[in-house]
Amino acid sequence: MANVVVVGSQWGDEGKGKIVDWLSAQADIVVRFQGGHNAGHTLVIDGATYRMSLLPSGVLRGKLSVIGNGVVLDPKALIEEIDRLRGQGVAIGPESLRIAENTVLILPLHQELDAIREAATSTTRIGTTKRGIGPAYEDKVGRRAIRVMDLADLDSLGAKIERLLVHHNALRRGLGLSEFEARELYDELAALAPRLLPYMDSVWSLLDRNRREGKRILFEGAQGALLDIDHGTYPFVTSSNTVAAQAATGCGLGPSAIGYVLGICKAYTTRVGAGPFPTEQDNEIGRVIGDRGREFGTVTGRRRRCGWFDAVLVRQTVRTSGIDGLALTKLDILDGFDEIKVCVGYELDGRFIDYLPASEHAQSRVTPYYETIPGWKDETAGARSWAELPAQAIKYVRRIEELVGCPVALLSTSPERDDTILVHNPFES
Ligand code: GDP
Ligand code: IMO
Ligand code: MG
Repeated sequence: MANVVVVGSQWGDEGKGKIVDWLSAQADIVVRFQGGHNAGHTLVIDGATYRMSLLPSGVLRGKLSVIGNGVVLDPKALIEEIDRLRGQGVAIGPESLRIAENTVLILPLHQELDAIREAATSTTRIGTTKRGIGPAYEDKVGRRAIRVMDLADLDSLGAKIERLLVHHNALRRGLGLSEFEARELYDELAALAPRLLPYMDSVWSLLDRNRREGKRILFEGAQGALLDIDHGTYPFVTSSNTVAAQAATGCGLGPSAIGYVLGICKAYTTRVGAGPFPTEQDNEIGRVIGDRGREFGTVTGRRRRCGWFDAVLVRQTVRTSGIDGLALTKLDILDGFDEIKVCVGYELDGRFIDYLPASEHAQSRVTPYYETIPGWKDETAGARSWAELPAQAIKYVRRIEELVGCPVALLSTSPERDDTILVHNPFES
């Protein structure tokens, strides 16, 4: 019986939320291990739509949901999300949600800094979600962050805020901004403490105990492998490790806790924000895919850039994340195309290469080699078994498996929870 890690295998928005929700029926615990409210997952259950950012998608099924230390947590965003979901009838309380005591907090000064940097010059613009993710991780690594447990020790909080503001106020002076008042930040955090502290826990120990009792853990990744701070299209990435190995570090378990890695993968490619995108279709094809796939960001509402499936990228992320099986989503969006293209390699300076080069400059210069595959006229939308899929759609799936070197474990054919085809069960692998 394997614990399963779900990760994005492209640039995020692959449909992780839907698949985590579907798989969580078989799990005891669902754990978020990196990222923050830059993530945005849309889930559709019996026609009702739920939008999640920070909470593990398992809360919808009442599973024990855990926010691990690898996450950066904006307390106000969390409280808003809890209140919004409660308003939709979802039960969330300390018995079903636990937050690691060593989780770093995102503060208003992080969000402001993120927005200011993004507004500064076009050459440095990443196209972030402006949620303060990068600045909060910087403070974590800089060893000056405020963490959840600091709200339980208000006597020491003042000194921690001073340490943080020494850095930020120097930066703010340089940027011509007014300095942050320590007292203001203290009062704000002290007021948030009663709403946050009931959820605080020693997550490494909680998970270790449950693991020993044989409970099934589902690890829920945010973003995608190409947004990974080390393995992604740097600097156009997020500020955390998004690959599967982070699942262990991000909640305090060892790597042996991870059994099976499920990579979520769209049947085409999308990206929000700036950065290289070799198969981008900045034309009618991209527009059709974007309209049909409703490719607008859950968090920022930005239109996502769209393009053909890039087998070179996914083959690479299958390796950097150690993906055992893929969940291929949004196959239905390709219904009706006469032909579909798949990128099988790149040309770089007159040479054929079968990998994404590491440097930013080279990444921006690769041009794709495409293989053209005939499309299908019958619908895959809403299919719940292989038998319902057109033969040509099955050929497309099989060709993707061949090109990326990884089997498809699940197929998704609509936003609805149950429009999902199980090929092999990750928990039983
Ligand atoms: P996540 O961030 O990886 O969880 O993905 P998002 O929720 O941001 O984006 C995926 C979008 O596609 C959501 O609106 C889902 O409801 C939707 N979706 C997921 N799977 C499918 C599918 O198989 N077909 C279609 N048409 N939509 C899907
Ligand atoms: P989910 O979990 C898609 C992108 C941003 C930007 C870059 C850095 O829904 O798949 P950040 O705010 O993290 O510093 O932004 O990363 N990005 C995402 N793109 N899906 C996401 O999450 C993303 N989270 C961040 O658009 O390019
Ligand atoms: Mg998303």
